[in-house]
Amino acid sequence: MEQYIMKGGNPLVGEVTISGAKNAALGILTAAVMTDDDVVVENLPDVRDINVMLEAIQEIGASVTRIDRHTVRINGSEIGEVSVDDEYIRRIRASYYFIGALLGKYKSAQVPLPGGCNIGSRPIDLHLKGFRALGAEITVERGAVVAHAIDLVGAHIYLDKVSVGATINVMMAATLAEGRTIIENAAKEPHVVDVANFLNSMGANIKGAGTDIIRIRGVRKLHGTEYSIIPDQIEAGTFMCAAAITRGDVMVKNVIPKHLEAISAKLTEIGCEVIEFDDAVRVVGKPSQYHTNINTLPYPGFPTDMQPQITVTLALARGTSIVTESIFENRFKYVDELARMGSNIKVEGNVAVIDGVKGFSGASVNAPDLRAGAALVIAGLAADGYTTVDEIGYIQRGYECFEEKLKALGAVIEKVDSEKEAQKFKLQAG
Ligand code: EPZ
Repeated sequence: MEQYIMKGGNPLVGEVTISGAKNAALGILTAAVMTDDDVVVENLPDVRDINVMLEAIQEIGASVTRIDRHTVRINGSEIGEVSVDDEYIRRIRASYYFIGALLGKYKSAQVPLPGGCNIGSRPIDLHLKGFRALGAEITVERGAVVAHAIDLVGAHIYLDKVSVGATINVMMAATLAEGRTIIENAAKEPHVVDVANFLNSMGANIKGAGTDIIRIRGVRKLHGTEYSIIPDQIEAGTFMCAAAITRGDVMVKNVIPKHLEAISAKLTEIGCEVIEFDDAVRVVGKPSQYHTNINTLPYPGFPTDMQPQITVTLALARGTSIVTESIFENRFKYVDELARMGSNIKVEGNVAVIDGVKGFSGASVNAPDLRAGAALVIAGLAADGYTTVDEIGYIQRGYECFEEKLKALGAVIEKVDSEKEAQKFKLQAG
């Protein structure tokens, strides 16, 4: 089983370039099949979830041409199947976007219930509430959502909870519904705005994305477009925390600083120096970093996808920090793994009380999910001695060239596939 092995202790220093946003790309790639024209998507992250999504799009009959590692051309004119039954697709959360895209275009869809990281129950009741409001008949049969509509008609939809997926999914279906749709209590994440901008570049009429009320006027059809994905807010935040926890000095390039404000604010609060440029953020870690409190919230609050990364950073800060996970009910599983490295964290329900320690010692740990896996890697880079992180398939779902980017910053890390390779790494690393 592939794992990362690393020797901690090196401050990360240098520049890293951030890839396209995975969670924007997943919505955009699915929405691309809603026209019969060619759609070219640029700045795609080359990560497993994206490649699984492209395979599933191809499987329903759309043509998918990889122009280069980060650019793809999609044409949905030959789609012959509105039933997405791809055994991989069950493993990624974003499979639900096929419902909104196919229901919008063909008024029919059959999609397996979503998989994805095990960080909580993750229902899709709000997605289905939105589709029903637009006039679709929805049933769940044999583990799949079956959706049909004679016509989709605009509606006034209130999302009981702020949901990124439900906002994007309903917005997609509503672009081809008759009349006006209003989505209230909409998610405001950068990737929601990116999907809205993409749909508008295809001729949709969406206003208000990025606020909590999105207004959509349905159009008859969508046309082709060329579109470049925004930089990944969470990959950027992960490298910002990596700089902080290793007391390094990293210029994180190809970012939109505004998307990182909550992360920059918290790293500044603990004592890091954070300098913003037009499309870059520099993070300088300090020998003494201090406690703070974090409450994960929908954007523009502190992102839940950055909760593990900031928690491991606070585990090496002075004093007691409190991290409250308000979005998902089971996102502290990695704390038991981190304890093997010497952290002192108590988890009660959705609150972690972190007593900072002077240092971590390397250990063998398991990645329980995508973001926790990345957090355990950056913790290992700050630890004394060797750390191995198992189950790195999770990490590869959302981070392009993770170990290469870290190595370029001075990290002593390798991806290994056997005990022999691990021993060889230890011999070379000394
Ligand atoms: C998206 O998941 C992201 N995934 C997640 O990132 C991210 O953590 C999450 O948004 C929050 O920002 C993708 O975009 C593929 P939600 P999503 O709907 O859409 C509840 C990563 O690491 N809810 O905003 O599934 C839900 O249980 C992943 O890249 C309902 O109750 O999240 C949760 O408590 C992990 N009913 C809250 O809302 C619904 O119908 C927010 O979920 C939908 C959601």
